[in-house]
Amino acid sequence: MRRSLETALSIADLRSLARRTLPRFLYDYLDGGVEDETGLNRNVDAFAQHAFVPRYLRDVEEARGTTKLFGRTYEQPFGIAPTGFAGLLRPGADLMLARAAAGRGIPFILSGVSNTSLEDACHHGLRQTWLQLYPSKDKSIALDVIDRAARVGIDHLVVTVDIPVGSKRERDLRNGFGLPWKHNSRATMEALLHPGWLLRFLNNGGLPFFEDWRPYAGRQASPMQVANFVRTQSPAQVTWTDIKEFRRRWGGKLILKGIMHPDDARQAVGHGVDGIIVSNHGGRQLDRAASSLTALRAVRAAVGSALPVMMDGGVRRGADVALALCFGASFVFVGRPTLYGVAAGGKKGATKAIDILADELLRVLRQVGVREVGELDTSLLLASSRPEVGLLPS
Ligand SMILES: Cc1cc2nc3c(=O)[nH]c(=O)nc-3n(C[C@H](O)[C@H](O)[C@H](O)COP(=O)(O)O)c2cc1C
Repeated sequence: MRRSLETALSIADLRSLARRTLPRFLYDYLDGGVEDETGLNRNVDAFAQHAFVPRYLRDVEEARGTTKLFGRTYEQPFGIAPTGFAGLLRPGADLMLARAAAGRGIPFILSGVSNTSLEDACHHGLRQTWLQLYPSKDKSIALDVIDRAARVGIDHLVVTVDIPVGSKRERDLRNGFGLPWKHNSRATMEALLHPGWLLRFLNNGGLPFFEDWRPYAGRQASPMQVANFVRTQSPAQVTWTDIKEFRRRWGGKLILKGIMHPDDARQAVGHGVDGIIVSNHGGRQLDRAASSLTALRAVRAAVGSALPVMMDGGVRRGADVALALCFGASFVFVGRPTLYGVAAGGKKGATKAIDILADELLRVLRQVGVREVGELDTSLLLASSRPEVGLLPS
C-alpha cells in the first residue's frame, strides 16, 4: 500500500514519502553517507544488536517521556539535530522544523548552514532553538556569529568538531550535486519529474541563501556567491585553543558535537564545556567510524556524571531512543527522521516524525515497566548488552 503522510506508520514510511517527493539528487543528499556508507548503516544496526528484558506487574499507566536537560524540562528525551541546506528540500524547512519542535516541546538545533537566519529563528519566539556553529577559517566570523546568537537570546551553542576535512559522499559526486553547483541535465530531468518540489523551489526564488553567512559574503552576493564564500571558510581546523576562546566568549551552554573518543570527552570536561553530543555525523564524515551508540557507552564510562552526554545517529524507532538512554545518554537527537518528514510534508511531516517516535517510545517505556525515562538503565537489557568498557579505547 502506498502510504500518505496521514497513514504513515513509521520513520521508514516517511523516508519512502521523502523519496517520492524529492528529485533523486536531493533525496540522496538527505539519505546518504560517505564512501561505502558503513558508518551510516553501522549506526542503525548498532541498535538492533541489543534487546530488552522487560519487567511486568508494575503500574505504568502514567508513563511519560518528560526529561530535564540543562535546567529545562522537555516533553521528550529527544530533539532535532542540525541539518544544513534543509531549505533546498522544502523552502522554509528550518522554520518548519523549529515550529514542529516548539509545538511538541522539544529542542531544535539550527544548523550553521541553515537557510534561515538565527535572528529569524529567534524572532519567532522559538525559545527552545539552539544554534550549531561550524567555525570559520576567518575566526572573526565565528566570534561574530556567537555574539549575534547571544544578542537574540540563544542560550545553547553547539560547536561541531567532526569536520577537519570535507567528506567524500559518493552519491552526491555521482549525481553532480555539490558546490559550486553546475548545470547537469540529469538533475534537471529529475527536477521536472518532481513538479511539486520544482514549483515550490521556483516560487521561492530558486536556490536559498545560507542566511547566517550573508553579512560576511557581502550584501549584494547571490545565493551561489554566498555558498562559494562558505566553501572558502569551511571546513576550518578547529582545535582546543578555539574551544577555549569560545568558552571565554560564550556565557550560555557550550556543547561539543561530534566527540567520539573518551579522551576527547575528558578534555571537553577539562575545558569547561557544558555538554557533549556523541555523533559520527550520521555517517557523513568518516565511513569507518564506530557507531554513535558504541562510542556513547565508552564516553559515558569515561566521564561519568561530569556533564550531560547526548548522542545522535541511527535512531529510527522510539525503542532506539530508549536504548540510548539505557546506555547512559542524557538526551538523544535525530537528523534524518524529521528531515524525511519535513521533505515529505513540511511542518506537518516533521510533527508526524516526532509523534511517531514519541508514541513508540511511550509504548516501550510501558512495555519494559518504567514510568520515567530516568528509570531506564542497562538492568533492562540482555546481559550480553551490558559490558560498558573495552568497546573503545578507555
Ligand atoms: C542532510 C543532513 C545535513 C546535515 N547537516 C549538518 C549540519 O549542518 N551541521 C551538523 O553539525 N550536522 C549536520 N548533519 C548531521 C546531523 O546533525 C546528525 O549528526 C545526524 O543526522 C544524525 O544521524 P541520523 O540522521 O541517523 O539521525 C546533517 C545530517 C544530514 C542527514
